[in-house]
Amino acid sequence: MECIKLKGKVFGKYLSYEEIQKTVKGIAEKINSEFKDKKPVFLVVLNGSFLFFADLIKHIDFECEISFVKIASYSGTKSTDEVKCLIGINENLKGRNVIIIEDIIDAGSTIDDIIRQLKEHKPAEIKVVSLFFKPDSFVKDFKIDIAGRNVPNDFLIGYGLDYDGLGRNLKDVYKLKIDN
Ligand code: IMP
Ligand code: MG
Repeated sequence: MECIKLKGKVFGKYLSYEEIQKTVKGIAEKINSEFKDKKPVFLVVLNGSFLFFADLIKHIDFECEISFVKIASYSGTKSTDEVKCLIGINENLKGRNVIIIEDIIDAGSTIDDIIRQLKEHKPAEIKVVSLFFKPDSFVKDFKIDIAGRNVPNDFLIGYGLDYDGLGRNLKDVYKLKIDN
């Protein structure tokens, strides 16, 4: 198996770029049929989603707006005090159809926080689209409208996903080898 090493950890090839592109195309087809005529705003969650969205948007065939957001974490004195703040929303989202674009949903707390903060902007609807989803890890109760591919509870890197800041530039997706 093709392996790479990052910061002392070994990752084995899990999905090829071609396989990922099939998944991305499938997601785009669903979005094209569900959101036509809704002029949605895509809210792309940085950093991880940048490659996924760059490929996805090329297949979207209706009028839409695009905005990039980020989660900034401010730690208090205790680790439990951590406040996650959604930054980068400059447009008026009131009454708009918003589609959140995420790279991977694990436990679900990131999107849960984003949805809670987005609701303050009074959009007409909030939909959630993620390239990858870890169903065995998910503990929240929001609906994931489109999940490109269910993945096991392993740590993935590549195609935008990072390990400690590294690996986002890899074309394919790799999975952490447990035996290293
Ligand atoms: P959640 O809040 O537990 O759903 O985690 C979501 C966020 O954690 C994603 O936006 C990623 O930034 C990161 N994450 C979760 N799983 C992975 C993984 O396997 N590889 C890289 N990043 C991950
Ligand atoms: Mg992310």
